[in-house]
Amino acid sequence: MKRVLWTLALVLLVLAGAVGALLLRELRGAGDGAGDGPSVAQAADAAPIAASAASAPAPVAATVAAPVGAAAADLRARGAYLARVGNCMGCHTARGGAPYAGGRPIETPFGTLYGPNLTPDAQTGLGRWTAQDFWRALHYGRARDGRLLYPAFPYPDYTHVTRADADAIYAYLQSLPPVAQPNRAHALRFPYDTQLALAAWRVLFFTPGRGDGAAADPARGAQWNRGAYLVNGLAHCGACHTPRNALGASQASRALGGGLIPGQNWYAPALDAASETGVAHWPLDDVVALLRTGVTRAASAPPVASTAAQASVSGPMAEVVFHSTQYLSDADAHAIAAYLQALPERAAPPAPPAPPIAAPPRRLMQRGAEIYHDHCAQCHGTQGQGERGAFPALAGNRAVLLAEPTNLVRMILQGGYAPATAGNPRPYGMPPYHQLLGDEDVAAVATFVRNAWGNHAAALDTIDVYHVRERR
Ligand code: HEC
Ligand code: HEC
Ligand code: HEC
Repeated sequence: MKRVLWTLALVLLVLAGAVGALLLRELRGAGDGAGDGPSVAQAADAAPIAASAASAPAPVAATVAAPVGAAAADLRARGAYLARVGNCMGCHTARGGAPYAGGRPIETPFGTLYGPNLTPDAQTGLGRWTAQDFWRALHYGRARDGRLLYPAFPYPDYTHVTRADADAIYAYLQSLPPVAQPNRAHALRFPYDTQLALAAWRVLFFTPGRGDGAAADPARGAQWNRGAYLVNGLAHCGACHTPRNALGASQASRALGGGLIPGQNWYAPALDAASETGVAHWPLDDVVALLRTGVTRAASAPPVASTAAQASVSGPMAEVVFHSTQYLSDADAHAIAAYLQALPERAAPPAPPAPPIAAPPRRLMQRGAEIYHDHCAQCHGTQGQGERGAFPALAGNRAVLLAEPTNLVRMILQGGYAPATAGNPRPYGMPPYHQLLGDEDVAAVATFVRNAWGNHAAALDTIDVYHVRERR
């Protein structure tokens, strides 16, 4: 008995030692890019990529030439494009604030974080950062001063970005006008506000990518590989569309499988399931149109015949389209669309012999129909047919039929706008109903639109609406 206890104690001691060593390694940052090879922009640190550098003679036969003149301008332009693809502006610009100067609150279940200042101001921004510091942040999630960064900054995705692309983004950010705006301190709850908690999180959930841009699957074509690189890296689609565990880490086994975005109270539907977005079954051009204009072609003005439903993006996806995907090059938009369509179709979850969705109570449907005709029909049509180029059809609408009703309820409570894009410059808006309709009314009208005109989905009750209203 004593022997067993001693062995157990020894095993525990060794385990504790191993965990301690791992945490210490995280906190110290052993191996964080210290030995990474030099890069173009690194060499450029010596001669900052600025207009004045353009007049300097190009270094002759340098091992790594600093980009000057046209080359530097190209690098910045590429960086500007890549910063759009990564939507750096979205989290690093306060409402009405200077672009990239930080201050935007990001809600998480662990508290609120504020996007820091990325402009090249020496005191408050990235003015003193080298390309190597920047790479360390993007690739390893570690700040210039060695602090571990919170994964609300989606570096678990950005870690797959290549050094060349990171250097281009760095060159672009360094070319912005510096804005002196001190960073706001994050407001996180204990223990999430400690570096130790972050170190533990990283030991469990974070592995730096290779970042070498090697094809994810050499057996596939260049387009698929480009799509994989963008979706799983810079464009970080999985940051919202992959479900997260209780500690906020993406569940790799369910990549792009859809989930509630923690802290945001929006559901990002599965990109690989026919029962949710079902993009595999849309014409490729409609997926491209959704990313670049915010609406499918059937919903655009003038409408184009398409077998895909009329769809328009809302909520956080409207922001993604507004700040980021509307700027995708034709080739990159097609690569993303092709990659999404090639995702292996996710089988419906092994449902217990599904009880057929009960027909909603008659009284609820009647009440819902009245509210619909009073408040909604003028835009969405008496038959839920919508109006092409203006109001989405609700008959056959995937967003309405999703098993997870959060987005439908939110839309009714808060209304919203599709994003203004070059392809859809003046989107129509929907008014909010949270003051006009109580929880019972919202449940009734939501149940009605889910079960009228051939639609068929589970009824909602007052408590469902209450949960969406109160959940944060
Ligand atoms: C979803 C929101 C989000 C997006 C998108 C985002 N960031 Fe951030 N970023 C953050 C947050 C939040 C922090 C602060 C993390 C911390 O302090 O631990 C941060 C921190 C950083 C830092 C460290 C700055 C410092 O002062 O320590 C850099 C550098 C950075 N982001 C660059 C980028 C770049 C480049 C992009 C686009 C490719 C980007 N971010 C996109 C939220 C975001
Ligand atoms: C900030 C979170 C977030 C990010 C990042 C994000 N999405 Fe979404 N996405 C959502 C939410 C929420 C919805 C549901 C609302 C809606 O239907 O517009 C959605 C909906 C969609 C839809 C269905 C739209 C419809 O109306 O049927 C597609 C397709 C899509 N996203 C693709 C993408 C792709 C591709 C990326 C990466 C380039 C991406 N998303 C990145 C949050 C996000
Ligand atoms: C003034 C016109 C107008 C009225 C009235 C209106 N809507 Fe909307 N609705 C819109 C527009 C425009 C959109 C697209 C907004 C977006 O994409 O963010 C929309 C979007 C929606 C969506 C999301 C569809 C999708 O594809 O994502 C739902 C659900 C919805 N409305 C239901 C309702 C209900 C229920 C009512 C009545 C309580 C209502 N609407 C009243 C204009 C209206």
